[in-house]
Amino acid sequence: MSTFDPAWLRLREPADSAARASVLERLLKTALPAREPLSIIDLAAGTGSNLRYLAPRLGGSQAWRLVDADADLLAAVSDHLAAHGWELADDGRLAQGHGVRARIATEARDLARDAVPADADLVTASALLDLVSGAWIDRLAAACAASGAAALLTLSVDGTLAWEPVAELDGEVRALVNRHQQRDKGFGPALGPHAPQAAVAAFERHGYGVETAASPWRLGPGDAQLQQHLHAGWASAASAVAPDREAAIHDWLAHRMDLLAAGIGSVEVGHLDVLALPGG
Ligand SMILES: C[S@@+](CC[C@H](N)C(=O)[O-])C[C@H]1O[C@@H](n2cnc3c(N)ncnc32)[C@H](O)[C@@H]1O
Repeated sequence: MSTFDPAWLRLREPADSAARASVLERLLKTALPAREPLSIIDLAAGTGSNLRYLAPRLGGSQAWRLVDADADLLAAVSDHLAAHGWELADDGRLAQGHGVRARIATEARDLARDAVPADADLVTASALLDLVSGAWIDRLAAACAASGAAALLTLSVDGTLAWEPVAELDGEVRALVNRHQQRDKGFGPALGPHAPQAAVAAFERHGYGVETAASPWRLGPGDAQLQQHLHAGWASAASAVAPDREAAIHDWLAHRMDLLAAGIGSVEVGHLDVLALPGG
């Protein structure tokens, strides 16, 4: 499995919230059964960012099962909820606030190896799909179809990286980063930027009606910390794929950091959100 720094998850959470395609949540809300509590499984939940975003938008009474391979991230869910203004009771198993009463269970599980749980009204994941293989997405769609669950799969990269102002090496860095995205992250060869379309095809094969909507990060100079982190990660990924280009990539990174320090420089990172509803 790939490990994820909780500081990175905290840094990206506001950008994720701002980017998500609200049109899909509205469609989802009207399609879900009028059941209380709604049962929801969050795959690769990390510290619970997806719950914090989605639960208030669905409202009412909910029962969440947060699944992740990293038990330390799951152990931090309660602290992150409290930091976002949720009231916790029953040792963190009950979270209230934002118009929601949510029962929360966490489960450490390696989703690459173990069965994909889908016995719920809704299976959701954020920033997961680009890590997985085509075979795994088929397993996910099959598991959802077997239980009749809806699926909302958000913030999967689509390969778009567009900078302003442009720099000479941008296209090369983008191509190398997208190649790196397709390296094995524990689930077999990763789909990277092809993940959203693979999810659309897999759920359609299982008889689902599928809607997609763009959810790009549009980051400006005011997002300097997130941009710094991203650019360092892209430079390191690009150099790992093309070690002979390391010096040129290093210069590209230095140029981008100089621009940011001067209060200049925007980047769009493309994502696609996918909503799959059973019954076409
Ligand atoms: C980019 S993070 C997204 C976390 C969270 N959904 C969010 O939006 O903040 C990817 C998550 O996938 C989890 N992960 C990676 N490999 C996994 C595996 N094999 N089984 C379960 N979870 C895994 C990581 O621990 C991490 O929490």
